[in-house]
Amino acid sequence: MRTHAPPRDESLRFERIPTEVFADAETACRALAARIAGEIRHRAAEGRPYVLGLATGSTPLPLYRELIRLHRKEDLSFANVVAFNLDEYYGLSRSHPESYWVFMREQLFAHLDIPEDHIHLPEGTVPRSEVYGHCAGYETAIEAAGGIDLQILGIGRSGHIGFNEPGSRPDSRTRLVTLDPVTRRDAARDFVGEENVPRHALTMGVATILDARQVVLLAWGRAKAEAVARAVEGEESDALPASFLQSHPNAAILLDPAAASELTRVRHPWRVGPVEWTPAMTGKAVAWLSSRVSKPILKLIEDDYRENSISELITERGSAYQLNIEAFNRFQHTITGWPGGKPGAGESHRPERAAPHPKRALALSPEPRDDTIGMGGTLHRLVDQGHEVTLVYLTSGDLAVPDGDALRLSRIFAELDLEQDSAPPNEKLIARVHEELGRKGPFDPDSPELRYLKGLIRREEARAASQQCGVHPSSTVFLDLPFYQKGRYRSFAPGPDDLAKVVRLLRDVRPHQVYATGYLQDPSSVPGICFDLLSQALEACRDEPWFADCRIWLYRGAEAEWEIHDIDMAVPLSPSELQNKVQGIYQHQSQRGQTPFHAESGEEIWQQAAERNKHTAALYDALGLPEYEAIEAFHRYQP
Ligand code: GLP
Repeated sequence: MRTHAPPRDESLRFERIPTEVFADAETACRALAARIAGEIRHRAAEGRPYVLGLATGSTPLPLYRELIRLHRKEDLSFANVVAFNLDEYYGLSRSHPESYWVFMREQLFAHLDIPEDHIHLPEGTVPRSEVYGHCAGYETAIEAAGGIDLQILGIGRSGHIGFNEPGSRPDSRTRLVTLDPVTRRDAARDFVGEENVPRHALTMGVATILDARQVVLLAWGRAKAEAVARAVEGEESDALPASFLQSHPNAAILLDPAAASELTRVRHPWRVGPVEWTPAMTGKAVAWLSSRVSKPILKLIEDDYRENSISELITERGSAYQLNIEAFNRFQHTITGWPGGKPGAGESHRPERAAPHPKRALALSPEPRDDTIGMGGTLHRLVDQGHEVTLVYLTSGDLAVPDGDALRLSRIFAELDLEQDSAPPNEKLIARVHEELGRKGPFDPDSPELRYLKGLIRREEARAASQQCGVHPSSTVFLDLPFYQKGRYRSFAPGPDDLAKVVRLLRDVRPHQVYATGYLQDPSSVPGICFDLLSQALEACRDEPWFADCRIWLYRGAEAEWEIHDIDMAVPLSPSELQNKVQGIYQHQSQRGQTPFHAESGEEIWQQAAERNKHTAALYDALGLPEYEAIEAFHRYQP
């Protein structure tokens, strides 16, 4: 009897690794943790060990939190689990706060009943002459444990898995590797400066990973979307080591929507199946076509639509002419020099309503400087146009202040002390901080007093920057959310105190407009956490009278801009307005010279920000819309 293969899901025809998109990282990790728990229990019942391959980084943290919860609340024992970690920085001892050893202990092992001798990580301080033997021994230990049952992976923006950087061969084994510049730049924040990031690491090889019986790669946030799409849909190649999972018989990729955003089924859904041609989808397709054939919208002809397989759109709208006009108008109506609405003007074609005027605008900046980078020009316009702007810095940003800056300040205070009759009020604090700075290494955690001083540095920079953007220092608020004060990068744990502060802020201001960022970002990043808190806070205020009259505008930041079809409000900046914004970014002195996250090598953040805004203007120009120097872009968020 002939059996029929199940019908192929056409929407997945570009995907070479089974890929599942979840509502968010938590949901994905709950599902995965439940599966792992089932397998651990099954093995335990048979009296056999379960061998887990583990990863570091922020990506697996929601999984680890859920495993810890299962251990505490649902009696899941890890006594039969044997763990092998992917990698370790070479040169870092097991007491170094940035070592993967410390990371795994703090984030997972210390909270489980896993026996000490079941935990394996490569040893970062093994002498050069013993590296080969140590790596071979790691392979042997995995084999002796029966091989890895399930390997968890994250992915680097370079497409690395473990520390298998581009160029890693599919037959590579555990070894010493040199880190890619992109990887070192992404780790710069953890090490407070790229120069402190180790240059080498010990990592399982691609073949070691592929030997695991199951492999699950996790990715969250927009920053991973390109690497994920190339791994899933591109050719299998050592240029992107994660693509080697394509030849694994039991590999899976779990994503949140932002990390899935570059997959063909999300990016160009019309290429994989029928779509509902909403105005937004139509705009997206027309902008795509315009850039694909390099023609402004109003010059697109039916052949362009036909040759690029979206003639369906013409059937829907009647003619290319009609379709072009509709799409063109849609983009044109996003442009406004009046981000708070134009008093007295008709508003049917404007992104913001005219009344009330003035508006209470609440601009939220996760860390100081996000606001200036994302909306420095718009802030200026809002103030000039008479709106009541409250600029709120959600976290102090002290973790990003190099020790050198704090040292400089403490020296100034020390000097003042010599020259003045009366000592400065915080004399003792300064003396203690001064002493701490003399003794501490660059990675020792800062004392609360040092963090306080560093926070003050950022406050003053933020005030200077906001003043440059027209906002009076008296209109700035420093919320110092507790999750940040208690935490460190990649392992923040927000709680009810944080939420309560954001809710109180909204209730105090009762804004007509909220400007925020962090949507689509890695959920464990500071902007990602802040956005999550904001959306929970908005939910809590949903039934309050002001809420119905409040619009939420999201800015993106320097590392990425909204895609043109996602822009609902485009605020043009003149050359001098852009220059003023750059000056604003420049006020954040302690952040100067630090390579920004996700930047091209050597690029400073002000350059990156200005380029983004110019790029957006160029995109509008290419669609056939007016040509501006620069544009700040916002997406309207409807909770
Ligand atoms: C490091 C680790 C990888 C991890 C990657 C991504 O390079 N060696 O195993 O996947 O970082 O980190 P994150 O999850 O923090 O984005």
